[in-house]
Amino acid sequence: MFNQIFPNAFGLDIGDLSVKAVQLKNVSVGHKRPEYKITNTKSRILPSGLIVDGEIQKPEEVRSEIQKMLSSKEKGEQPIRGSWVMAALPETKTFLRHIEIPKTPEEITEKDILDVTKKHIPFDEGSYYFDWQYIRKKDETHTSILVGATQKNISDMYTYLLESLNLGIIGLDIEALAIARSMITASKQYEGEARAILDIGATHSSLIIYDHDIIQFSKSLPFSGELINTIFEQTLHITHQEAEDKKKELGFGYDEKHGQILQLLSQTIDNLVENITEAIDFYQTRFVNPNNITHITMCGGGALIKKLPEIITKKLSIECTPGHVWKNLSSKEQKDDGGEYLKFATAIGLALRAADNPFATNDTI
Ligand SMILES: Nc1ncnc2c1ncn2[C@@H]1O[C@H](COP(=O)(O)OP(=O)(O)OP(=O)(O)O)[C@@H](O)[C@H]1O
Ligand SMILES: [Mg+2]
Repeated sequence: MFNQIFPNAFGLDIGDLSVKAVQLKNVSVGHKRPEYKITNTKSRILPSGLIVDGEIQKPEEVRSEIQKMLSSKEKGEQPIRGSWVMAALPETKTFLRHIEIPKTPEEITEKDILDVTKKHIPFDEGSYYFDWQYIRKKDETHTSILVGATQKNISDMYTYLLESLNLGIIGLDIEALAIARSMITASKQYEGEARAILDIGATHSSLIIYDHDIIQFSKSLPFSGELINTIFEQTLHITHQEAEDKKKELGFGYDEKHGQILQLLSQTIDNLVENITEAIDFYQTRFVNPNNITHITMCGGGALIKKLPEIITKKLSIECTPGHVWKNLSSKEQKDDGGEYLKFATAIGLALRAADNPFATNDTI
């Protein structure tokens, strides 16, 4: 039976330039499927320099910003008073990958797992925490595991920060897991097709490949909302705020009249498409039994950049569209908000985990 064992727990997404919180109530009892109600959503812009590339540079200021967000009562909002939190570690400082080991689950030892994962994890030995989960498969000649790793210093920083806010930490998720939890339809079985999720944030983007009911791997991509702002600022000689407004107004909707800016935006998007293609090729050539990627679901505030989904669809010949962040809550909560909440994809995925009973849920996403 589903029930919420951490009362008023919430999901907290801490990014370089923003913090966001989502609180859900688990109302699954008496329903066939898990159901959740939205209790609260909040976000706050962070000044630049407090967190840089996922590293907390000014912990005291970050703490104060999070406190302000949680207690804010703007426009009649209710503060978030929960004392349990599920947070995410920054995408660029974590590693997540599905690995197949050519031994049966009966033959495999802990040492086999350590030896194999060591070869894949891109951090210095001894500098990371790692965990793995056995993935049950029909073909048991191989052992399938999902491996996650985070840099120790980053994980410790986030732990200290949350403890300094007097919050009990339910868990620190790898961001890709949180995103997939909100963006992949939980009630659907994907047969013979793989999916990709493209999260476009303020300072980084990431691509998550999902196939055979699990995340296969995730990859950071050098594309972001700030990158587009810099192009606008430098070519049009405008302020950061004007660039932000221009980006929201026109996005990639430029034509030949705007020579230089069009050229720079085209290069940026070609670069993004090249990186996505490389990641897809990597999946198709290095993983066991890969299905074709039939759809790319976008999330993050950058999913709203005008013309971007259409351009990616055309260049990759894979349909790419902004996703629906509320779809795994319940039919009643599937509101059409025009994409306004796409930037909450990570926080919603965290909130879904916070509102579950982690001891009753076997959650690989
Ligand atoms: N309507 C819009 N059109 C274009 N860009 C938008 C729009 N709305 C938001 N953005 C951009 O989305 C970005 C913010 O997205 P999001 O909140 O997902 O990022 P973040 O989670 O703070 O960043 P990161 O994940 O990199 O830490 C900003 O660059 C913002 O300008
Ligand atoms: Mg983000």
